[in-house]
Amino acid sequence: MNQTTTFFYCCVILNIILYSVLSRTSLCSYVDPHFLACEPQTCGNQSIRYPFYIQGKHQPFCGYPGFGISCDTKNGFPILNLSNTPYIIHQIFYYNQSLRVSNAAFSSTNNKTTDYCISATQNFTLPPTKTFSLVPQNHNKEILLFYGCNQSSTPRELMDYRIGCSEGNNKTGGSVIALYKDDLNTVSLASKSCGMGGEVVDVVVEEEKSGEGGGGGIEEALRRGFMLNWTASDCKLCNSTGGRCGFNSSILTFQCYCTDRIHASKCNIPVITIYA
Ligand SMILES: *[C@@H]1O[C@H](CO)[C@@H](O)[C@H](O)[C@H]1NC(C)=O
Ligand SMILES: *[C@@H]1O[C@H](CO)[C@@H](O)[C@H](O)[C@H]1NC(C)=O
Ligand SMILES: *[C@@H]1O[C@H](CO)[C@@H](O)[C@H](O)[C@H]1NC(C)=O
Ligand SMILES: *[C@@H]1O[C@H](CO)[C@@H](O)[C@H](O)[C@H]1NC(C)=O
Ligand SMILES: *[C@@H]1O[C@H](CO)[C@@H](O)[C@H](O)[C@H]1NC(C)=O
Ligand SMILES: *[C@@H]1O[C@H](CO)[C@@H](O)[C@H](O)[C@H]1NC(C)=O
Ligand SMILES: *[C@@H]1O[C@H](CO)[C@@H](O)[C@H](O)[C@H]1NC(C)=O
Ligand SMILES: *[C@@H]1O[C@H](CO)[C@@H](O)[C@H](O)[C@H]1NC(C)=O
Ligand SMILES: *[C@@H]1O[C@H](CO)[C@@H](O)[C@H](O)[C@H]1NC(C)=O
Ligand SMILES: *[C@@H]1O[C@H](CO)[C@@H](O)[C@H](O)[C@H]1NC(C)=O
Repeated sequence: MNQTTTFFYCCVILNIILYSVLSRTSLCSYVDPHFLACEPQTCGNQSIRYPFYIQGKHQPFCGYPGFGISCDTKNGFPILNLSNTPYIIHQIFYYNQSLRVSNAAFSSTNNKTTDYCISATQNFTLPPTKTFSLVPQNHNKEILLFYGCNQSSTPRELMDYRIGCSEGNNKTGGSVIALYKDDLNTVSLASKSCGMGGEVVDVVVEEEKSGEGGGGGIEEALRRGFMLNWTASDCKLCNSTGGRCGFNSSILTFQCYCTDRIHASKCNIPVITIYA
C-alpha cells in the first residue's frame, strides 16, 4: 500500500464518519409525536406507563383498552374503574403484570377514633373482557357488607362487626356490618335482622395471613385490597429497543412508538458500521 492509497482510504472513512454524524443529527431533530406523547407519567408515587395510561395526561393510544386510569388530584392516588366501580391502585408490578387494588369506598374505614360513613358500592365484578384476573395463590375471600343495619334493633353480637355508618342511605340509615361470607351463622343472623333495610354487597379481600402482625381485621383487609394480574401485549422487546408501547384501537394492534416512526414490535436500533 503506497501513501496515496492510504490517504485515499483515510478520506473515504473520514467522509463516512462525517456523513453519518451529520445525518444522525438531522434525524434527531425529528421525533415522532406518538413517542413523545407516551412518556411515562407519575401519579402519586407511581410511574404510569403502558399498558396503563392516565386519562387527560396521556393519549389513549399510549395504553391498552380498559387500562385508562384517573389520577385523583386530591389524594394523588391512581384510580382504576372496574365495572364502573373506582378502585385505588396501591402498587403496579410491571415486571410480573400485576397490581394491588382496593375498592375506594373503603379507603378510610373506621379507625375507632372517627366514625366514617361508607358510601354505597357494587358487588365485585371483573370486566367481561378478561383483561384482569384475581391471583388465586393469594387466597381471596368474600366479604358481605350489610348496609343500613338499624343500630337500635340490631343484635349486640352483630354490632361487633360494624365497620362504620352507612352513607347516602336515608331510607334506613344506621350501620354497615361486614362479615366473611363463609361465617354462615353470623351471615344468617345479619340477613334476618338487617338484610331487609339496605343492600347486601359482595366484595373480595385477601385472606389475612395469621402471625403477620397487622391484626386490623376486616377493616384492614378492605383497605389492603387484593392482587390482580393482567393480560396485554408484552412491552419488553419494544421497551428494550428504546421504544414506548401503545395500542391502536382502530386497527386493534399493538404498536411500538419509536423516535423515528411507529413500528410493529420493536425499534430499529441504529447499527453503526462503516462499509469501505
Ligand atoms: C407508594 O406508597 C404506598 C404507601 O406509602 C406504598 O405502600 C407503596 O409501596 C408505594 N409504591 C411505590 C411504587 O413506591
Ligand atoms: C372512572 O369513573 C369516573 C366516575 O364515573 C369518571 O369520572 C372517570 O373519568 C372514569 N375514569 C376512567 C379512566 O375511565
Ligand atoms: C408480583 O411481584 C410482587 C412483588 O414481588 C408480588 O407481591 C406479587 O405477588 C407478584 N404477583 C404475582 C401475580 O405473582
Ligand atoms: C383516625 O383518624 C383520625 C382522622 O383522620 C386521625 O386524627 C386519627 O389519628 C386516626 N387514629 C388512628 C389510631 O389512626
Ligand atoms: C339524605 O337526606 C339529607 C337531608 O335530609 C339530604 O340532604 C340528602 O341529599 C339525602 N341523601 C340521599 C342519598 O337521598
Ligand atoms: C330503628 O329501630 C328502632 C327500634 O326498632 C325504630 O324505633 C327506628 O324507627 C328505626 N330506625 C329506622 C331509621 O328505621
Ligand atoms: C350482590 O351480591 C349479593 C350477595 O351475593 C346478592 O344478594 C345481590 O343480589 C348482588 N347484587 C347485585 C346488584 O348483583
Ligand atoms: C393471571 O392469573 C390467572 C389465574 O391464575 C392465570 O390463568 C393467567 O395466566 C395469569 N395471567 C398472566 C398474564 O400472568
Ligand atoms: C424499559 O426499559 C427501561 C430501561 O431502558 C427500564 O428502566 C424499564 O423498567 C423498562 N420497562 C419495562 C416495562 O420493561
Ligand atoms: C392507527 O392506525 C391507523 C390506520 O393504520 C393510522 O392511520 C393511525 O395513524 C394509527 N394511529 C396510531 C395512534 O397508531
